[in-house]
Amino acid sequence: MFVVTAYTYYVVYAYDPGVWSKLVAKYMFDLMDKIPKPLLIAGVHKSFGSLRALTDVSFTIEPGRIHGIIGPNGSGKTTLFNCISGIIPPDSGHIYFGDTRISGLRADRIAKAGIRRTFQAGKLAPSLTVLENIMSGNSSQKTRALEREARELLESLGMGEAADRWAADLVWAERQFVQILRAIIGKPTVLLLDEPVSGMDAGETELVVKLIGKINAMGITVAVVSHDIKMLMDTAEWVTVLNFGEKIAEGTPSTIRKDPLVMEAYLGTEE
Ligand SMILES: Nc1ncnc2c1ncn2[C@@H]1O[C@H](COP(=O)(O)OP(=O)(O)OP(=O)(O)O)[C@@H](O)[C@H]1O
Ligand SMILES: [Mg+2]
Repeated sequence: MFVVTAYTYYVVYAYDPGVWSKLVAKYMFDLMDKIPKPLLIAGVHKSFGSLRALTDVSFTIEPGRIHGIIGPNGSGKTTLFNCISGIIPPDSGHIYFGDTRISGLRADRIAKAGIRRTFQAGKLAPSLTVLENIMSGNSSQKTRALEREARELLESLGMGEAADRWAADLVWAERQFVQILRAIIGKPTVLLLDEPVSGMDAGETELVVKLIGKINAMGITVAVVSHDIKMLMDTAEWVTVLNFGEKIAEGTPSTIRKDPLVMEAYLGTEE
């Protein structure tokens, strides 16, 4: 393989040295994309009219971690994911992925940089099959190899037989799984999961927790927003807490459990 690649580079070089240096640069950039990088959120503000959804939010999602983000309803968790993934730009503040500023970039550029996400509402293309939905998460790979990979991912979840079903026929939990696989097939370095276990029973939740563990073991940083505090505290290594758009605490699950501000924010609202 190496000999073939080296020979191809040599032939291209002999033909056009400019093209060769571009190929080397692309190869180096591809390699650099795979190096784990922190996601730095620095002083992010976002308002909708007079409503402040995020106020001066700063924290770092360290590479390789499972990072939990919790907060009562409307505390800004999804807005934060929307700002990170480029669905909406922050009003001010910055978001860096390694040395690269990603705030303000288009969503497709951010996805290409290695940050993928799932959505709380869990939309799939209903008129495509499960396999086609998963494959739609990667537009840069050849179809045959991609299809094989998508089938393998489904089989690893015991959902192999679902490959050719219409997405419209899936039950809620299956949709959530397919969403995650669609994000994973894009080979991200960071995965943002917005409420991955909402509406799931204990058994389904357990499957998602296992899947998150597997994804993290592949070297992918996972940031998880969830109302299932117990699941999140058992799964995450580090937790950030939002309340009314502000960060009120962060730390290991054991310190967060004892934090008086967090207890106050959740008084009567913990599910
Ligand atoms: N596009 C929008 N336009 C107007 N207001 C919005 C918009 N998106 C979010 N908001 C408001 O911003 C606040 C934060 O919403 P967000 O969805 O980020 O909260 P959340 O923590 O994800 O809540 P939940 O736990 O219910 O999912 C809420 O008051 C919400 O109504
Ligand atoms: Mg939300």
